[in-house]
Formats: sequence, structure tokens, C-alpha cells
Amino acid sequence: MNPDNAIHSAANLLRAGDTVAFPTETVYGLGADAANPLALHKVFEAKGRPTDHPLIIHIADSSHLSVWAQHIPDMAWKLAAAFWPGPLTLILRRHEQVLNAVTGGQDTVALRVPDHPVAIALLRAFGSGIAAPSANRFGRVSPTSAHHVREELGTKVGMILDGGSCRVGVESTIISLVHDKAVLLRPGGLSIAAIEDTLKQKIILTQAAEQKIRVPGVLSAHYAPATPMELHCADALFQRARHLSAQGCKVVVLGLGRASENDISDIGFDYFPMPELAEDYAHMLYATLRQFDRAGLDYLLVEHPPDTWPWFAVKDRLRRGAQSR
Ligand code: TXA
Ligand code: MG
Repeated sequence: MNPDNAIHSAANLLRAGDTVAFPTETVYGLGADAANPLALHKVFEAKGRPTDHPLIIHIADSSHLSVWAQHIPDMAWKLAAAFWPGPLTLILRRHEQVLNAVTGGQDTVALRVPDHPVAIALLRAFGSGIAAPSANRFGRVSPTSAHHVREELGTKVGMILDGGSCRVGVESTIISLVHDKAVLLRPGGLSIAAIEDTLKQKIILTQAAEQKIRVPGVLSAHYAPATPMELHCADALFQRARHLSAQGCKVVVLGLGRASENDISDIGFDYFPMPELAEDYAHMLYATLRQFDRAGLDYLLVEHPPDTWPWFAVKDRLRRGAQSR
């Protein structure tokens, strides 16, 4: 289908209360009309997601903020001006009109402007907010290509818009601004340092769980590949791999960059070099986990990335994937 026709059809499907999967710069979303309870119900059903888990409303630009939120603090306008469109989600006080199906019954709402031409064209054609979680089944790794969405949801989605592979590759950074402070609820595609620079203040890194805010992204079973996954620092990585393969286990090691000949000669396991730049690593993380999930491995051993800010989101996702076992 010609791209303009595809957008037109997708917008019509949304108006008719159906679901549309669409690309964003982070991951693919499973979209529905944010103001249509029956359409939202289809999203929860297709994902197998509990209905009390809130959804992000995607908007075409920040002029739509006041349609869905109220008592919007200056900080929000500043962040929107600096980073939208982009991988940042803001949690604000909800407008009364926002459906409980979107907010999970909370008095706050999540909003973001995605940075992808297909997503923006769809939002403009539709003309209103699109509620969209990542287009995967609940608890699974987010899709970063249209092919992944098809694998995850198949016929459970009205239409899939193909926008190629997602540039960022991990989900948006979620910042709550509801208590006059900026609180990080989920590390993601936008760096904390960039946000702090713009706000000229520190972001509070409290665990969302402690604040009793429902964020499925912080449940330990999230971002889980089906293959048992372990995170090890470089020293322990090859020792563990040798030990497991000596026991007859099929093992793949995801290392940072190329391994030395010493480490990988005569090893009995496969070594897969991941990028040494955090952005490149994030871009291919989920696709790589999917690829090895299909390989019938007993173990996926992952080298622990550096403890520096650019790796924050990747480390977070790896830790959850490893913890869920
Ligand atoms: O990059 C992304 O954010 C992608 C793309 C599609 O935009 N979306 C995404 O959606 O990751 P989802 O539903 O998989 O994760 C959104 C997170 C969830 O953990 C949800 O609990 C949280 O946002 N969230 C939504 N509304 C919230 C609210 N009012 N308060 C706190 N957390 C909220
Ligand atoms: Mg998700």
C-alpha cells in the first residue's frame, strides 16, 4: 500500500475503534483511540495485560498537552520544548475527561510526542490522542520491527504500519512531574543528564515501586526473554560459560566488543560481540534477545555493561531480563 493510503486507512481504523500497531523511535506501539473505552479494551486483550496498568497517550505535539493534563508545571513545558518529539514520557495530573481505562484509575496521565515520521503522520491524520503500550504480549520483550509485532500479536491487531527498525531500541524515559519535583520512573532512550541540564536540577531516582505507582516496567518479570539469561562481569563471564558448556549446556555469550583469542579459543560456546557504544547496543538489544530466544539455547550469558550514565537504560533492561529467572 502507498504510505499515504496506509496512514489514511490506519486513522480510519482508529476512528472505527480498532487497534493499529505503529513505529516510534523507541519501540513499536499498539495504538487505540485514547477516548474510546471499547478500543482500549482491545489493546489490553491483545496484549494480555492487566487492565489496571496505565497506558501512555501519544500526541502530535505539545499543544495537545492541556487536552489530557491539567495543572501542568513549567518544568513540563520546558522538557516538552527541549525533547519532544523524542523518547521522553511525562507523568502529569490528568484532565477529568481522561478515561480510567487509560490511567488505570490513577489521577495522573502519561504523555509523549514520538519522534518517528510514521507515528507523527498517523497522529496528525487521526487528530487526537493515541493510547499505546509497547506492541508485545504482556511481560515480553518490546518489538523493534514490524516483523516482531507480527510475531507477537499476529491477527490480534487491526493493522501494522511498517516504519523499519526503531532507531533508539529501548522504551522512553518516564519522568513524573506530579509532586513539583522531577522523579524518574523508568530509565530509557533519553539520558538523565540531558534532562537535568535542561531543568537545572537533579532528578530523583526513587524506585517507582516505593511510591506505589503501578508501572509494569518495574516488575521483575518484565522484559523477559524466554531463554534463561545471566549477567556477569567480564572476569566471571567466560568461566561461567566454560563451566556450563562442560556440562553439556548450549550457551551463547553476549560480550562487549570483540573477545580476545585467549578467551574464546577451544571454548565450546558461541561468542556474539555486542556494540561498545551504549546507543548502538540499545538499538539492537531486543532484536538480539529475540534472535537468541529462537536458537534453543540453555543459557544466554551477558557481559555486564559499564556503570556509566549512557548505559543506564540498557543495564536496567538486562537486569530485569536476568532477574526474571
Ligand atoms: O517508548 C515507549 O514509551 C513505548 C512507545 C510505544 O511509546 N511505550 C511503552 O509503553 O513502553 P508501555 O505501556 O509498554 O510502558 C509504559 C509505561 C508502563 O510501565 C506504565 O505503567 C507507565 O508507562 N505509565 C503509564 N501511565 C502512567 C501513570 N499515569 N503513572 C505512572 N506510570 C505510568
Ligand atoms: Mg511495554
